[in-house]
Amino acid sequence: MGPVRAVLFDAYGTLFDVLSVSLRAEQLFPGQGQPLAALWREKQIDYTRIVSMAGPQHYRPFSALTRAALRHAAARLALPLDAAAEQRLMDEYQQLAPYPENLEVLQALRARGVRAGVLSNGDPAMLEGVVRHAGFAALLDPLLSVDPTRRYKTDPATYALGPQALGLPAHEILFVSSNGWDAVGATWAGYTTLWVNRSGAPPEQLGTEPTRSGRSLRDVLDFFAAAA
Ligand code: LAC
Repeated sequence: MGPVRAVLFDAYGTLFDVLSVSLRAEQLFPGQGQPLAALWREKQIDYTRIVSMAGPQHYRPFSALTRAALRHAAARLALPLDAAAEQRLMDEYQQLAPYPENLEVLQALRARGVRAGVLSNGDPAMLEGVVRHAGFAALLDPLLSVDPTRRYKTDPATYALGPQALGLPAHEILFVSSNGWDAVGATWAGYTTLWVNRSGAPPEQLGTEPTRSGRSLRDVLDFFAAAA
């Protein structure tokens, strides 16, 4: 494994806790918050794959697919999602909680002179909103959205945005995701990868392993020597 010179983070589930929406969902639909949040997330990713496979003419921004997925998930659970509840849950997406160790890790990367950015399915306005809300705006650059490609991960065009923006070959960029499938997709695209397996999920069985696996964002720092 050669040296890595920069880091790109996945956003949802990696920097920001998507299941934190379950608290809001639980307030709106007591007893159903966790299932709604989990189904919403699953359907959101499902929709990215459906439109991406059908071709760029079917592309819809991540915010639109997120709203569509929420409507479907609520209907599947027979929950009465009115316009106000829908908007409260969508607003929550701009205020997702970062995982507790993230600030310290981003600050440590900055102290070591390592550039750190985001490469996400999220559309630019969503990404800027959630990054600003978490107080990470000064610590993350660039914020790369797949939006210009009109495709979603794991399409190679989306992962190609990283090397293009950073001016580095993919293997010199550490791509970090808590989504096993995303870590595999980035590995296929040539990145050095870290799968932050927070939930202890089994590995994807796709014949490719991420470069390394870990349990928290702190494992990113193992790739970089401490400042002298
Ligand atoms: C993202 C999704 C995959 O941020 O979590 O790209």
